[in-house]
Formats: sequence, structure tokens, C-alpha cells
Amino acid sequence: MRPKRLILAINLVILLLLLGQMLAAIQASDMASELRDTSGRWASYLLLATMLFTPLGYYRPVLRRYLPLRRHLGLWGFALAMMHLLIWVTLEFGFAWALMWQEMDGNLFIWLGLVALLLLVPLALTSNTRAMRKLGYRNWQAWHSLTYVAVPLALGHYLLAQKVVTAEPVLLLVVLVMVLVWRYRHAH
Ligand code: HEM
Repeated sequence: MRPKRLILAINLVILLLLLGQMLAAIQASDMASELRDTSGRWASYLLLATMLFTPLGYYRPVLRRYLPLRRHLGLWGFALAMMHLLIWVTLEFGFAWALMWQEMDGNLFIWLGLVALLLLVPLALTSNTRAMRKLGYRNWQAWHSLTYVAVPLALGHYLLAQKVVTAEPVLLLVVLVMVLVWRYRHAH
């Protein structure tokens, strides 16, 4: 092996060892659940924020200028929700599928989260101008009204994930209900 390659290989091994140790440290402390919860919470904020654009833009037309931001917020929300799931699968359960299945059994909140995330997949995949053009705006809009199912499920998941009811998910749900009522009233 050439010296340069050997050095690269040794350094890669060192990096991998460090990464392994970091992951072990995260698992040993309570950091895995911290990371899981923080990613889940930020995913919820961002996803709910995407739903505020239409009503806020109605009352403050100047805000419509920021409409293109909605797509970014939604994609980041989706990415964080995926991270949240990945943390659960890797750091919390270490790919122990049977154990995960056991945990899901009878745990409604996990199913709500899973369905919410699955519904977000087609939305994330079509959150680009090319997909919008291909589908045609009407079809695209119809697909994206799935948001009105996915976000309530995600926030329901948040509420039920709590062992004791805390103010935050209730507050997010109140905002969500306000948006849904507004949408219902302004549907044409
Ligand atoms: C759009 C999808 C999702 C969102 C927005 C979301 C959001 C959240 C939030 C906000 C929490 C509570 C965090 C806290 O207490 O501070 C949470 C907890 C949790 N979520 Fe999710 N989640 C989603 C999908 C999933 C999925 C697919 C799974 C697993 C299959 C999952 C598993 C969990 C678990 C295990 C907890 C912790 C419950 C506990 O404290 O014991 N979530 N999620």
C-alpha cells in the first residue's frame, strides 16, 4: 500500500472508532432521548408553521412575498421528523426490529407518528418546481392538502407521547384547530 493511502486508511479507522465511541456515549447517557425529543419538537413547529402561511398571508398580504419559504420549512420539518425516526431506530433500539415491533404494539402514539411521516413522504418528494409542473398545479395542490391530515396526526402523536399532559402540545393543537377552522370557513 502507498504511504499516502496507508495514512488515509489509518485516519479513517481512527475516525470510525471515534464515531463509534461518540454513539456509545450518546446511548449511555440520556442524550438519545434528548435528541429524539428535540428533533420531534422542531419538526412539529416547522410543520405547523407551514400551515400558517395561507391564513397569515390573507390578513397581511405583504407576507405572501415569503410564500416560497413554506416549501423550505416543510422540507426541513420532514428532514427533522426523519431524523427523529432514525434516532429511535438506531440510538434507542440499535436496529432491534422485534423490540421495536413490541414497542409499537398497543402504542397508538407511535402509529400516529408513523402514518404522519409516511404521508409526508409524497409531499416532500413533490416539493419542487419540476414536480409541480409535471403534476399540474391543481393536482399538486390536491396532493399537498394531505398536509391537513399529516400535521394533525403528527401533533396528536406529540400530545399522546407525553406521559403527563404539558402545555406545549396543547398550545400547538389550539393553533392547528384555529387554522383548520379558518380553512373551513374560507374554502371555496
Ligand atoms: C411527522 C412525524 C413526527 C413528528 C412531528 C414527531 C414529533 C414528536 C414530538 C414533538 C415528540 C415529543 C417530544 C417531547 O416530549 O419533548 C415525540 C416523541 C416521540 N416520538 Fe415522534 N414524531 C413523529 C414521528 C415519529 C415516528 C415515526 C416515531 C417512531 C416510529 C416516533 C417516535 C417517538 C417516540 C418514541 C417518542 C418519545 C415518547 C416518550 O417520551 O416516551 N415519532 N415525537
